[in-house]
Amino acid sequence: MDTLTSIMTRRSIRQYTDEDVTTEQLLTLLRAAMAAPSAGNQQPWRFVAVRDADVRARLAEATPYASPIGRAPLGIVVMADTRENKHPGFWVQDCSAATENLLLAAHAIGLGGVWIGVHPHVDRAAAITQIVHPPEGFAVLGMIAIGHPTSPGPQVDRYHAEYVRTDGWDE
Ligand SMILES: Cc1cc2nc3c(=O)[nH]c(=O)nc-3n(C[C@H](O)[C@H](O)[C@H](O)COP(=O)(O)O)c2cc1C
Repeated sequence: MDTLTSIMTRRSIRQYTDEDVTTEQLLTLLRAAMAAPSAGNQQPWRFVAVRDADVRARLAEATPYASPIGRAPLGIVVMADTRENKHPGFWVQDCSAATENLLLAAHAIGLGGVWIGVHPHVDRAAAITQIVHPPEGFAVLGMIAIGHPTSPGPQVDRYHAEYVRTDGWDE
């Protein structure tokens, strides 16, 4: 699938078949995530891949709207190691770019997923930290549920000409 097709046809997928995500597919997804741009190329992203059903169930309960993690065969917790960032604060954009890369790659190889937002809710990040226990100084950006879609997402075009101005925002 070419890049533009993946971007334009990706949808959040929250229902999955029983089919597993292979180790090779997981590696493809993580490699795509780590190919993302980051501030000063600092690559602060760190990932916990969660296959264990009990751990996924706990993650699904840890924050609101996280139930897809409990249903999917694979959950991924996206975190940043903020301890030695050359460009502090940019970890949010860096890890968001990695998350979107991963979702687009998943769609391109026939999988489906959904971004579960955590940051900037510190209580949600704390609940997830309790479950996957990263080192001190790691920050949780979010989670991603990944699996085989039960059905394709709807096709939409969200282009809005009124969201755009040229050379300045003159009404
Ligand atoms: C920062 C962020 C947080 C999100 N959090 C959740 C979430 O907690 N649970 C969920 O089911 N979807 C979540 N989503 C997915 C959005 O609901 C979805 O992207 C949006 O409705 C647009 O639909 P689409 O992804 O199919 O284009 C999140 C998306 C983003 C970018």
